[in-house]
Amino acid sequence: MKRELRPSHNVEGSLSVPGDKSIAHRAALLSILASEKVTIRNFPDNDDCRSSLEAAQALGLEVRESRELLDLFPPEQISAPESGIIDCGNSGTTTRLLSGILAGSNIETTLTGDESLSGRPMKRIIDPISEMGGELFSEDGTLPLRIVGRKLTPIEYTPPVASAQVKSAVLLAGLSSGCSVTVREKTVTRDHTERMLEALGEKIEIRDIKPTLMPDPNDPRKRRMVMPEDFKREVKVSTETRFHGGEVDIPGDISTAAFFWAAAAIGRKSVTIENVGLNPTRTAFLDHLKAVGCKVEIADKETISGEPRGTVTVTGGELKHRRISGDVTVGLIDEIPIVGVIAAFANGTTVIRDAQELRVKESDRLEAVSHNLNLMGVKCGVLEDGLAIEGGRELSGADFLSYGDHRIAMAFSIASLFVTGPSSIDDESCVAVSCRSFYELLDSLIS
Ligand code: S3P
Repeated sequence: MKRELRPSHNVEGSLSVPGDKSIAHRAALLSILASEKVTIRNFPDNDDCRSSLEAAQALGLEVRESRELLDLFPPEQISAPESGIIDCGNSGTTTRLLSGILAGSNIETTLTGDESLSGRPMKRIIDPISEMGGELFSEDGTLPLRIVGRKLTPIEYTPPVASAQVKSAVLLAGLSSGCSVTVREKTVTRDHTERMLEALGEKIEIRDIKPTLMPDPNDPRKRRMVMPEDFKREVKVSTETRFHGGEVDIPGDISTAAFFWAAAAIGRKSVTIENVGLNPTRTAFLDHLKAVGCKVEIADKETISGEPRGTVTVTGGELKHRRISGDVTVGLIDEIPIVGVIAAFANGTTVIRDAQELRVKESDRLEAVSHNLNLMGVKCGVLEDGLAIEGGRELSGADFLSYGDHRIAMAFSIASLFVTGPSSIDDESCVAVSCRSFYELLDSLIS
């Protein structure tokens, strides 16, 4: 449904956001392989996480819901649903992580999804799991994906794309089949799978490669810092790795919080988010806000269920442009749409590179961001792997297109607060993919 949006520069206050989507997916899907009950606190009520939970239920997981807790009872033995089909909805994380689990199981299933998910690349998981002897069948590297579970063989794998979903799919294939897997990452991606296995399981090995002081090959009298390996992190599961279960307390989703902090950044006000996840593989947006001129204050930091969290206040200031590339882009992968909106209100030209992955998210986010920025009167050029956004003009309201993508809808709903004149977004309902209560939360900050 279309939503009308009105400008309002007074966006400030304090709130908490629903639980982290990435952590919730992992809690639901790992429960299939748990040896004990998994109790989840703060499981978010969104469409994506529901896809994971329903997929796990279709495989035999029993779910009991009490007021604020979800008790998940793993099946003795996973079994295929009668239809043989599991619908993953709009969720890439459900599809890719579940593919790993199913490939190492002893059942046959077919994964399907909605139109957007059916166009997204699955070859990135089919390739490594097939190398392990997995049987995954897809006509053109997309859904539907038929998986015939079987005993898999060990693999040492360096993903060619920086992707936490690929890393997790391969690790979960190993865990499900009981064979060893080593994943080496050239760029470190979000590490929620590893943290959950460490906190509620045993025998996962993680090695972070740090630069070390070595003799300079050009001048042996000198020493310099070099990376001793051509990767930054190594994660290993072995035949002894287990996921036991226990309690998972999910912090607020920092990728949802980003939209509300962006409102503070653009409106030069303060927004505080309580109990928000602060996993270092997810905090690049806070570094971005600092780099473009905002104040970021963190309080009450603690770690629960292996995941750091705290209360974060962002206060906006005069916004500057920035060049974003390489590992920084990977760290901001889900935040690029809102980074693009912030850039429209900053002085100078923000350049985003190494963001080709944005083309295969829930929409082609490079085209979607550029289209909507152009509608507002922003000069924005689409590069093969990024965007160039010239900020600092007088901007006007527009009829924004969500492309059915939750993060595009939320990013341009924030933009609409700071432009001249009314705007609209064609489909407000897609925000439910990650944050069903987005507009109520936003209204609570507007005075
Ligand atoms: C996710 C990993 C990222 C991210 C997605 C969630 C995850 O995708 O964009 O929203 O939970 O593992 P990629 O692995 O494709 O980079």
